[in-house]
Amino acid sequence: MIQFAILTVSDRGARGERAEDLSARAIRACMARLDAEEVAYQVVPDEIEAIERALIDWADAGVPLVLTTGGTGLAPRDVTPEATRHVIEREVPGIPEAMRAASLSKTPFAMLSRMVAGTRGRTLIINLPGSPKGVRENLEVVLAALPHALEKLQGDPGDCG
Ligand code: MTE
Repeated sequence: MIQFAILTVSDRGARGERAEDLSARAIRACMARLDAEEVAYQVVPDEIEAIERALIDWADAGVPLVLTTGGTGLAPRDVTPEATRHVIEREVPGIPEAMRAASLSKTPFAMLSRMVAGTRGRTLIINLPGSPKGVRENLEVVLAALPHALEKLQGDPGDCG
């Protein structure tokens, strides 16, 4: 069972101007393909401190996986990758590399997402783009590697098959 938290980074969402958080819904739909349980959910504005606070709180509480959506692009207020880099201890570049590589066959705009992934303690943090389509097309790329990634992060000493 994979426990995960969703952090939606959106000024409009945080102001309550989005009727429904369709990006979080897309994350839930993808994660339903694994044996997974959502343990936390928050919407924060595109503010470095607010993003860092949520990521640190969840990592310190031992949530194994945090998926963020939004704020990875080039808009002036897009700061999710910077906030993530501030709190992670080890970067996992292969995850965004794989997501961008696969996404480029769907849209050239994939190269505009600056999403990063990394670990803080025993928590894996993965940035995803803000649109539901971007969430789906990127998250489905990492699903196959997630259980193994999290087992290793929790200290599984077994050989990799
Ligand atoms: N990746 C995929 N697979 N599909 C998409 O639709 N959208 C792109 C990109 N990555 C997209 C994608 C777009 S339009 C942008 S601007 C960037 O992600 C950054 O999105 P964000 O600022 O909402 O995080």
